[in-house]
Amino acid sequence: MMIYVIAIVAAIAGFLFGFDEGVIAGALHLLHAQFGIDPVMEGVMTSAVPFGALFGALLAGRWVDALGRRKVLLAAALLFAAGAVLAASANGIAMLSLARLVLGFAIGMASLVAPLYISESAPPEKRGMLVSVYQLAITLGILGAYLINLAFAGSWRSMFLFGAVPGVALFAGMYMLRDTPRWLVTQNRTREARTAIASIRGLPLGSVRVDAELQDIARTAESDKGRGSWAELFGPVARPALVVGIGLFLLQQLSGINAVIYYAPVVFREAGFDSASVQLMATIGIGVVNVVMTVVGMALIDRIGRRPLLLLGFAGAALSLGMIAIAAATESTALDTLAIIGLVLYISAFAVSLGPLPWVMMAEVFPLNVRGLGMGTASLANWGFNFLVVFSFPLMVAHLGLGGVFAIYALVCAAGVIFALRVVPETNGVPLEDIERHLRSGQPLRTLKRAPAAGEGILLGGSRP
Ligand code: GLC
Repeated sequence: MMIYVIAIVAAIAGFLFGFDEGVIAGALHLLHAQFGIDPVMEGVMTSAVPFGALFGALLAGRWVDALGRRKVLLAAALLFAAGAVLAASANGIAMLSLARLVLGFAIGMASLVAPLYISESAPPEKRGMLVSVYQLAITLGILGAYLINLAFAGSWRSMFLFGAVPGVALFAGMYMLRDTPRWLVTQNRTREARTAIASIRGLPLGSVRVDAELQDIARTAESDKGRGSWAELFGPVARPALVVGIGLFLLQQLSGINAVIYYAPVVFREAGFDSASVQLMATIGIGVVNVVMTVVGMALIDRIGRRPLLLLGFAGAALSLGMIAIAAATESTALDTLAIIGLVLYISAFAVSLGPLPWVMMAEVFPLNVRGLGMGTASLANWGFNFLVVFSFPLMVAHLGLGGVFAIYALVCAAGVIFALRVVPETNGVPLEDIERHLRSGQPLRTLKRAPAAGEGILLGGSRP
């Protein structure tokens, strides 16, 4: 039970992530009307979020190890609330940009700490699903922002102010929770760690299973002695994990997701929906598909495993992006429906797989002593490539046309199929400690396998009559 409370509270951070990204869409035309912003200021204000997030992710990687997961989430919650109030009371674009920089910083921190907090608390067999709650919350945040845009259509201040509500909720929730057993052990706070494990697993304090888990964590922490350094992160043990973490985010972002989400209304206009309100409703439709398919992904992730789901996602995304590319390149209105179907299929393939999996796997693959640093670096990649795509999209469209740009995104996803086949390990059901042992043993990460559970081994060994 407790683990669900933990996952939901930490996922409020994900809701804020999606909300603060999405809310600007419906506020922009109001800001134009009130302040008459020029394109440069608009660019600065819009990119202030990913820009701030870059720094938040970078610094939080250090802070989570020194201060703990919980305190960093508390700090992020305060920044979310402060940023929302600052944005709502802004007297001009400069102040608004500053507020968005603060919000971005909080998103960057949260995008690293929340999945880590959930992953370190979760039992191995439910870890994928529980960390995906975070991605689900991001998609709910995006959808929530579109709906708030609709509800407060006339007032950009109310739209921004709404973000303070989940900020306060995150603070209150985290205030009542403990830090993760793994972090407490690294601080030699063994008694608290034992209490934390017992409460998460719903077992009595003296239980053998609590002891066993505590000892396993302590053993790993002992062999990890010494705070992880950059040299270690890039060293032979952690490097394979780094390749997986950065590679997955590179592919997730260069698949063009945020360009698609951002330009969805434009695509719908091209497809012949002339009325602005119909475009907004269709955009909300995309938001809904994103949420629903993320739920489907959550149901699959711990069942069919990470690798099959990734393959499915990359292959599906490559095909559907190809459909959009063809439809866009051939400007015939007969193909407009193809573009819409392609878009819905692409969002579905993304949401079921490429959306949640990088978050899930970045929280799994790193050894404990460089986990914070490694996840910080992976989130940094997420924000760096996010920034790159959103920034380059209009320029690329101008040079290559919409069809050309989507063809490139399709090729990236095709490359993702190869990456999933050759590089990505199957971490489904493998305890974090086993993943770390495997890395330290020097075997290729790709060959990781789940140790057979009691009973399973006999069957697999074929020694049963
Ligand atoms: C993932 C991506 C994020 C994107 C979201 C869309 O969380 O990291 O950039 O906006 O999915 O659902």
